[in-house]
Amino acid sequence: MNPPKTDARRHHDPEVRGFASDNYAGVHPEVLAALALANGGHQVAYGGDDYTDHLQRIVRSHFGATAEAFPVFNGTGANVVALQAVTDRWGAVICAESAHIHVDEGGAPERMGGLKLLTVPTPDGKLTPELIDRQAYGWEDEHRAMPQVVSITQSTELGTLYTPEEIRAICEHAHARGMKVHLDGSRIANAAASLDVPMRAFTNAVGVDILSLGGTKNGALFGEAVVVINHDAVRHMKHIRKMSMQLASKMRFVSVQLEALLAKDLWLRNARHANEMAQRLAEGVRAVHGGEILYPVQANGVFAKLPHEVSERLQRRFRVYFWGEAAGGVRWVCSFDTTEDDGDAFVAALEEEMARA
Ligand SMILES: Cc1ncc(COP(=O)(O)O)c(C=O)c1O
Repeated sequence: MNPPKTDARRHHDPEVRGFASDNYAGVHPEVLAALALANGGHQVAYGGDDYTDHLQRIVRSHFGATAEAFPVFNGTGANVVALQAVTDRWGAVICAESAHIHVDEGGAPERMGGLKLLTVPTPDGKLTPELIDRQAYGWEDEHRAMPQVVSITQSTELGTLYTPEEIRAICEHAHARGMKVHLDGSRIANAAASLDVPMRAFTNAVGVDILSLGGTKNGALFGEAVVVINHDAVRHMKHIRKMSMQLASKMRFVSVQLEALLAKDLWLRNARHANEMAQRLAEGVRAVHGGEILYPVQANGVFAKLPHEVSERLQRRFRVYFWGEAAGGVRWVCSFDTTEDDGDAFVAALEEEMARA
């Protein structure tokens, strides 16, 4: 039961939402209810519980009979654990220059995972076989970190999407060169919802070896999972997760959240809604004189270019993230709880600020 709005323990207005990030949103009520359900009594710690066991079955229904989930606390942890499991100490990861592992994880892959990242500039956050080849060389050269894995993000950090065929081509290209493929699926639900395909269509069905499966941005309190698809590609997952401080002792509470999202269609409902709100927001922004959208809006993120003073004034009314600040970029993200009224209010504010500029 929700406490009354006047409850002195509440330090925020639960009716106020913005477009800064899908991480600003709260927890979906069905996930909260699942957490309460998993409470009480004792359950085996460190993943030996019944909720984690159930989660395995659900993950297999999405990602194939051999898939195995390793729940973790957060997305950075999922990526750092997954990437370590598919590389040797001398290994390197090829990724887009805009990849979260490169720009937004505080150097964790390098410092915590000991991984060398080989980055490639991309026009839209997406790698291609040709772009991968800018870094895929020198396997015999001991002076170079050895490219062992290609990491892609779906949906990308720029709100764009790979088609299943594009990911298949990347997997074939990488595998032919002895490299594995990791997919950062922090927003995998948004991708599947937008492409209108099951998540397997662009993961296990096309050759992805290992996946960071997102939960938080899709409505969880916290919690993601590394999903191993190709067991031949990974080593020592359990040890790496523990050593990387991502082994939850009370794992049932991570697992039950992912179960709540993935067992039926909550993941899809949440993602579809967020995507629809992003489309609506983008339409509204396009209709504002001078509103320029930077990338195709294919998931739940909208990237736009605005005069700096407009972004700054807007920032005082709605929190937004500046993106490539020098170029005037801003990012808006929609969540499972974004409403049409939220979008309309934001577009109206943008219209006012543009008119003043
Ligand atoms: C594409 C992508 N990967 C990984 C993460 C990492 O998630 P976390 O902040 O939970 O570590 C994020 C978070 O914003 C993300 O956008």
